[in-house]
Amino acid sequence: RAEKGAFITAVLFLSFFFALIVYAAKGLNIDVPTCITDVKPYTQGQVIQHAPNRYEIHYLAKMWYFEPADVELPVGSTVDIYLTSGDVIHGFQIDGTNVNLMAVPGAISYARVKFEKPGVYHIVCHEYCGIGHQDMTTKIVVK
Ligand code: CUA
Repeated sequence: RAEKGAFITAVLFLSFFFALIVYAAKGLNIDVPTCITDVKPYTQGQVIQHAPNRYEIHYLAKMWYFEPADVELPVGSTVDIYLTSGDVIHGFQIDGTNVNLMAVPGAISYARVKFEKPGVYHIVCHEYCGIGHQDMTTKIVVK
């Protein structure tokens, strides 16, 4: 039957793309930004240190700032970044890394990043979010 063939084709395509994503994540060791469901929605930004060089940052994006602002980390830190929005959709890009996320109200985005080099890593909102969009920035200082 035609529908059955179409269904099998669709399943095969889905499996193929899923395998590609798994391959990209595992094989090439690329961090795939994901949507997270095991972190409770939060309304405040915070930095949590789990171990030396092991951090978790909960970022909150709001018109027109990020919380926490200006985080300082030791060089070599691996950071789990969680991101949500307190109002509208914002962007979140850390210059000099491959972290590029969307802050969506009611959802949490996730990425892992390791800061190998000291420096100032600027974070910008790259999704137009109103009159203060241009000034919606913060930074991570790695020493
Ligand atoms: Cu927030 Cu643009």
